[in-house]
Amino acid sequence: MASIIFEGVEKRYPDGSTAIRHLDLEIKDGEFLVLVGPSGCGKSTALRMIAGLEDITGGQLKIGGNVANGLAPRDRDVAMVFQSYALYPHMSVEENIGFGLSARGVAKEEIALKVQKTAELLELEPYLKRKPGQLSGGQRQRVAMGRALVREPNAFLMDEPLSNLDARLRGQMRAEIARLQKMTGVTTVYVTHDQIEAMTMGDRVAVMRGGVLQQLGAPRTLYDAPDNLFVAGFIGTPSMNFVKATVIADGKDLFAEVGAFRLPLDAGLLEKRPALNTFLGKTITLGIRPEVLATADEADASKGRMQGNVAFVEDFGATQLVHLDVESASVEEAADEDAELTLSGNRLRAALPASLTIKSGDVLTVTVDPVHVHFFDPETEQAIRA
Ligand SMILES: Nc1ncnc2c1ncn2[C@@H]1O[C@H](COP(=O)(O)OP(=O)(O)OP(=O)(O)O)[C@@H](O)[C@H]1O
Ligand SMILES: [Mg+2]
Repeated sequence: MASIIFEGVEKRYPDGSTAIRHLDLEIKDGEFLVLVGPSGCGKSTALRMIAGLEDITGGQLKIGGNVANGLAPRDRDVAMVFQSYALYPHMSVEENIGFGLSARGVAKEEIALKVQKTAELLELEPYLKRKPGQLSGGQRQRVAMGRALVREPNAFLMDEPLSNLDARLRGQMRAEIARLQKMTGVTTVYVTHDQIEAMTMGDRVAVMRGGVLQQLGAPRTLYDAPDNLFVAGFIGTPSMNFVKATVIADGKDLFAEVGAFRLPLDAGLLEKRPALNTFLGKTITLGIRPEVLATADEADASKGRMQGNVAFVEDFGATQLVHLDVESASVEEAADEDAELTLSGNRLRAALPASLTIKSGDVLTVTVDPVHVHFFDPETEQAIRA
C-alpha cells in the first residue's frame, strides 16, 4: 500500500490545452479519496497520470514516497477500474479474475487460491463458472473489481466505475465499494462527477474545476464550510441558494438586507468573522441551503423571514422542493462547469417536509436561521470566514 502525492503537477496536452494546473494533493496511505467535479475538469487526466497512462508535463508525482513520473504503468503496481469494465466475454468469471495473474506467470495453485479468496470477498463464488454475458450489471462490476483486487495492488484507481449501472444498483455498489476499501485498506482514488458518490464514499473529497483543485476536505467540511461559491454550489442537492444582500449594522444588531426583507444575523458574527466588517454597507452573496429554510414560526423572532409566491412544487417523497418567487430579492444560479454565476431572478428553493400542504400560487413565508447562512465575497467568490 502506498501514499500518492502530487507536487505542483501540471498536465498540458500536446495540442496546448492545459488539463491540470499546479496540483498539490496528498492522498494518504489507505485513504479513500474522491476526485469530483464537472465534465472536463481534469479528473480522468489526474487519475491516468497516477496510472502512468498520461505523461506528466510538470511537477512531481510520488507513489509510496518515490518519484513515479517516469515509471512505466506496469511498474507502478496500481490497479485501475474503468467505467466500461471490459471483461473478456469468452472467459469465465474465474478466468477473468485470474487473468492478470496468469499473464504474470503466477503459479496455477496460487492463482486458484487468490481467485477463491477474492470471489468470497465479493460474494461471487456462485458465479465463478459463468461467462460475463450471464451476469447482471452489478455482478459484472464486481468481477471487474475482483480483477483489480486479486493483484493486491498498492492502490486502486477507479474512473466512474458505477456510471453504467441503474440508480438502485449504483446505490448498492457505492456501499459495496466503500466496504471493500475499508476491509482491504488499499489506498483508493475514485473519480466521479456525482457529488452524492463523493459525499457518501470518500474519507476526503477533492473538488476540481477547470484543472484547478478548489477544496480538499472531509465530505462534512465541504458541506458545512465550502471555501468558495463553486464548491458551495456543487456540493449538496438540491444546490445552495445564492442571494444578493447588503450587510448593515444597526446599533449592536447586524442584518442582511435582501430586497425588502431584513434577515437578522448572529449578534457575535462580527467578532467571529471580522472580515465581514469591510463588507458593511456593501453587496455580498449569501448562501442559504434549501434544507435550512423552514416554514415560519411566528414565535421565533431570532430568525429572518422572506415571503414569496410559490411558483411550483416538486414532490420528492419525504420532502418537497418549493420554488418560491421572492419579490425584490436577487438570486443567483449556482455555477455549472466553468460558467460564471448567473442571475436567475428572484427564485429561492426551499426543501420542506412533504406533510405540509403547499401548492403553486400560495403565498408562503420561510424563515432563515442565521446560524446556517454562508457569506461570500461576490468579487473573489471566496467564502468570508475569517
Ligand atoms: N488527449 C487529449 N488531448 C487534448 N486534450 C485532452 C485530451 N484528453 C483530455 N483532454 C482535455 O483535458 C480536459 C480534462 O479532461 P478529462 O478527461 O481529464 O476530464 P474529466 O474531468 O475526466 O471529464 P469527464 O467527467 O467528462 O470524464 C478536458 O478539457 C479535455 O478536453
Ligand atoms: Mg473522465
